[in-house]
Amino acid sequence: MKFYEKIIRPILFLLDPETAHIFTFKTLAIFDHFAFLNKILAKFFSFSDASLKQKVFGLNFENPIGLAAGLDKKVELTLTWPAFNFGFAEIGSITYQPQVGNARPRLWRLPQDKALLVYYGLSNLGAQNSAKKFIQAKNRFKRKNILAISIAKSNDVAMEEAAEDYAKSFQLLEEHADFVVINLSCPNVKNFCGLQNKILLEPILAKITSLNTKQKPLCLKIGNDLTKSELDDIIFLVKKYNLAGVIATNLAKDKSRFSLKSKDQDKPGALAGQPISTRANEIIAYLYKNSENKFKIIGLGGVFTGEDAYKKIKAGATLVQLATGFIYGGPQSVKNINQDLVKLLQTDKLTHINQAIGLEVNHYHLF
Ligand SMILES: Cc1cc2nc3c(=O)[nH]c(=O)nc-3n(C[C@H](O)[C@H](O)[C@H](O)COP(=O)(O)O)c2cc1C
Repeated sequence: MKFYEKIIRPILFLLDPETAHIFTFKTLAIFDHFAFLNKILAKFFSFSDASLKQKVFGLNFENPIGLAAGLDKKVELTLTWPAFNFGFAEIGSITYQPQVGNARPRLWRLPQDKALLVYYGLSNLGAQNSAKKFIQAKNRFKRKNILAISIAKSNDVAMEEAAEDYAKSFQLLEEHADFVVINLSCPNVKNFCGLQNKILLEPILAKITSLNTKQKPLCLKIGNDLTKSELDDIIFLVKKYNLAGVIATNLAKDKSRFSLKSKDQDKPGALAGQPISTRANEIIAYLYKNSENKFKIIGLGGVFTGEDAYKKIKAGATLVQLATGFIYGGPQSVKNINQDLVKLLQTDKLTHINQAIGLEVNHYHLF
């Protein structure tokens, strides 16, 4: 931890954030290409404990901590994520059409706020190219982790044609995923968040569930700025279409809700990291209270430590993810979080992580 924080991170943080990201991923790609290097890497970060293992969506998770969507948009490190102790990784978001996204710069660090401002606009390789990369990875060596693939609407496709666009991505990518995430909330794309509205969302769910003949678990990823009626509509539709889970939350679009301190706070984009965690926890608790145990919740937003992850689990999340926390915390962070989770369970005299789910749901109030 200290080595990353004291040496590597200060060097990476001298670079523009996207350049640092590209450089890191190019360096790490070597572990995705050679199984023996991958195994060596895993030795540094391995940690396993029976109290963290769970069967969720019919899949065996080694631990509840996953990589959030957005870091591996270009399908570069699909085989490497478990070496950092991630119990699962979400790749994407991927759209049917390849997209360059917004012009650079489009990512800013807000260090005083332990946050990031993200303005990528869904840049990715497109579903066809991404599918090829999943096949290449599969042919290199056997993947050990659980992989989710996040699909989103192509920017140039009208809202009314969203269902068809999602369906094409789903058909190309579903076979490479253990579960599929329908991302409804891309705050950096004009009008995109509107898909969280019932009238636009229902045809997407109807279409994808009708194509889901292999019964792949499906999750919806939702935003941090939802109104009560949007959230209620989502809960209604998740139950109606028997979806496996809801991922809460994506970036916060409305930055005026937060009192930020960092110098780049006025740059365009939506917010990730610590400031969005409270609202994310409230949304998780609201979902949990209204889930009637019919779907699971994957919680994220501002997870940096075991304590942060545990809060989300106690609010009602079965699994947890992080993006910003991994960028700030570095390669050791997931192992640390998992180790701390085991200690926190012991402190609470619990023997398994599933005993903690929803324990503090009544501490949160939303709307
Ligand atoms: C650089 C970056 C890119 C992101 N891109 C996506 C994306 O393509 N799809 C998506 O569903 N979420 C995306 N997100 C949102 C994250 O998955 C996550 O929901 C959000 O950052 C809150 O988690 P965090 O506080 O741990 O970062 C992105 C986040 C970051 C930091």
